[in-house]
Amino acid sequence: MKPQLRSLLGIRQLTTGQIEDLLALARRMDLKRPPQLLRGKRLVLLFYEASTRTRASFEFAATALGAIATLITATSSSIEKGESLIDTGWTVASVGADAIVMRHPNSGAASLLARYVDVPIVNAGDGMHQHPSQALLDALTITDHKKKLKGLRVVVVGDVYHSRVARSNAELLSRFGVDIVFCGPPDFVPEVAATLAPGVTVCHDLNVALQRADVVMALRVQKERLVNKHLSVEDYIANYQITPLRMRLARPDAILLHPGPVIRGMELTSEVADGPQSCIREQVRNGVRTRMAILATVLGAAK
Ligand code: NCD
Repeated sequence: MKPQLRSLLGIRQLTTGQIEDLLALARRMDLKRPPQLLRGKRLVLLFYEASTRTRASFEFAATALGAIATLITATSSSIEKGESLIDTGWTVASVGADAIVMRHPNSGAASLLARYVDVPIVNAGDGMHQHPSQALLDALTITDHKKKLKGLRVVVVGDVYHSRVARSNAELLSRFGVDIVFCGPPDFVPEVAATLAPGVTVCHDLNVALQRADVVMALRVQKERLVNKHLSVEDYIANYQITPLRMRLARPDAILLHPGPVIRGMELTSEVADGPQSCIREQVRNGVRTRMAILATVLGAAK
């Protein structure tokens, strides 16, 4: 029997089979007539950090499947009065939450809560650590466009160091034989990043990295996490901004991804963000079906 997934904390904990099952279930989700798999279930979205697409798509995913979703944010809850993460988790579980989707600025926060609270925890981003639902929806988007993952060249450009999206994506794609190239200035892409997973390499020259790329994944420069980093915006734009000219270095059928929020004029230009190779809106749309699959799975209702 396959191991039952109780909490989704990161990509590494998943077997390759569990990843494939989640993606297959996401593909089967009928958004027009969603199956009422979670009727009567109560979901709490516990968000200690800003979010637009992740929060909205988890909420829509839950309600589409028939669950009730309640949002708790750090401001306007007892968190503001000083309640600890674990006490908040216990409170949420005691009022009857069947699962908690959590975003937190500290790496490891979701795993910590999962040790103390007896309901499934879904990590919706913890500090610089993991963002598993984003990696799953990115894999879904890539496989919508490419026949198979094996052998693809995925170039991840930008602030890899601070990016939970980059970490989760590299760990997931590596399982399927993808070549992942981390590209950015040394402050954002230290050499040691190549040890993250098999198939990961580091390249500081974007014009080299982009050659033969099947997927270009731009990342947001995470200003809120830039303590002790001396970023020159002009240098970054000159060397690492994705422009139409640079996109031409990639394969002609290359797709462009970005987890959002996109800072136009920084990591990429508007021509690229809105251009024919951009799948950024598709990623956001795929977020709903992916999160439906995740919620149905952790709540033991997947069919
Ligand atoms: C990302 C995040 O919060 O990790 N956004 C997202 O969830 N789609 C990326 C970011 O904030 O840059």
